[in-house]
Amino acid sequence: VAPLKVGLAGLGTVGASVIRLVAEGKDQLAARCGRPIEIVAVTARTKGKDRGVDLSGIRWVDDPVMLARDPGIDVFVELMGGDGDPAKAAVEAALSAKKPVVTANKALLARHGFALAQLAEANNVGLNFEAAVAGGIPIIKALREGFAGNSFARVYGILNGTCNYILTRMEQEKLSFAECLKDAQRLGYAEADPTFDIEGFDTAQKLSILASIAFGTKVDADSIYVEGISSIDSADLMAADELGYRIKLLGVAVKTDTGIEQRVHPTMVPKDSAIAQVMGVTNAVTLDADGIAPITLVGPGAGGLATASAVVADIGDIARGAHVSPFGCATDSLTVAGKAPMQMH
Ligand code: HSE
Repeated sequence: VAPLKVGLAGLGTVGASVIRLVAEGKDQLAARCGRPIEIVAVTARTKGKDRGVDLSGIRWVDDPVMLARDPGIDVFVELMGGDGDPAKAAVEAALSAKKPVVTANKALLARHGFALAQLAEANNVGLNFEAAVAGGIPIIKALREGFAGNSFARVYGILNGTCNYILTRMEQEKLSFAECLKDAQRLGYAEADPTFDIEGFDTAQKLSILASIAFGTKVDADSIYVEGISSIDSADLMAADELGYRIKLLGVAVKTDTGIEQRVHPTMVPKDSAIAQVMGVTNAVTLDADGIAPITLVGPGAGGLATASAVVADIGDIARGAHVSPFGCATDSLTVAGKAPMQMH
């Protein structure tokens, strides 16, 4: 069987891990997906840098858009990041050239997901993004495929590892917010600009993607009520503790009579709930749908290998010819604006 030829743009931690996983899992992937997967061409900002992986035999292309259109590739993997060009232009170029795309780019999807999904559907090719939300948890598959026939009432979760790490340490070690943030940065959990993590925007982007799949709505990060954790102090955590709660930064999407409400804010969760048990730099998503009593999936939300596993799984789906509508958004129904914080029950 002819191998699936992959062009990969972006050779950071995730990109390098994808190359390693595809090389090391070669036989298993071929067996599981029905055909071999080969990374044939790459592009990145700097050529010649040592990334700790073997790039010999892989063709170098200077420009992401050129790679996206390259006739020698069957699928384009975008791991460059950023909600604009060159990532956007390259993804559009690949889809327009009828090449399926795999991306880990939550910012791009939160901003342009609906338009990109339409472009993918118009060209009848896949746009897969398992790695964009909670990298190590196969949450997109769970929502879209695992519960394809269920109707969701509520989907919520801890979608930012940095915030959960900070809240966990503040609670367990009675440290200040500033001290914990400094450690999160030192350990490389936070985004380049930590405001994005701690003020809830990262969670909001991921929530908009999950909500759109769960509820078939247009990806809409702008109407989300967003409040981060920078004003939480140890006294808040202690007060919650005395009442039998923990405070977690949650992204919540709920079906209401008027539409899908999306919100991100520090939330009091009962200590005996599944979501309250999630500590440290970990993600978790609870799915509340008919017939499945809430299910909580827990796992790493970031990191090279965890995120790369999701990318490789998406490539595997394309290799096996699995084609799904990106967001399942047959309609362009909009979400409604979320309101002020609430407590979870
Ligand atoms: N900064 C993010 C987090 C990384 O802390 O979860 C993954 O998107």
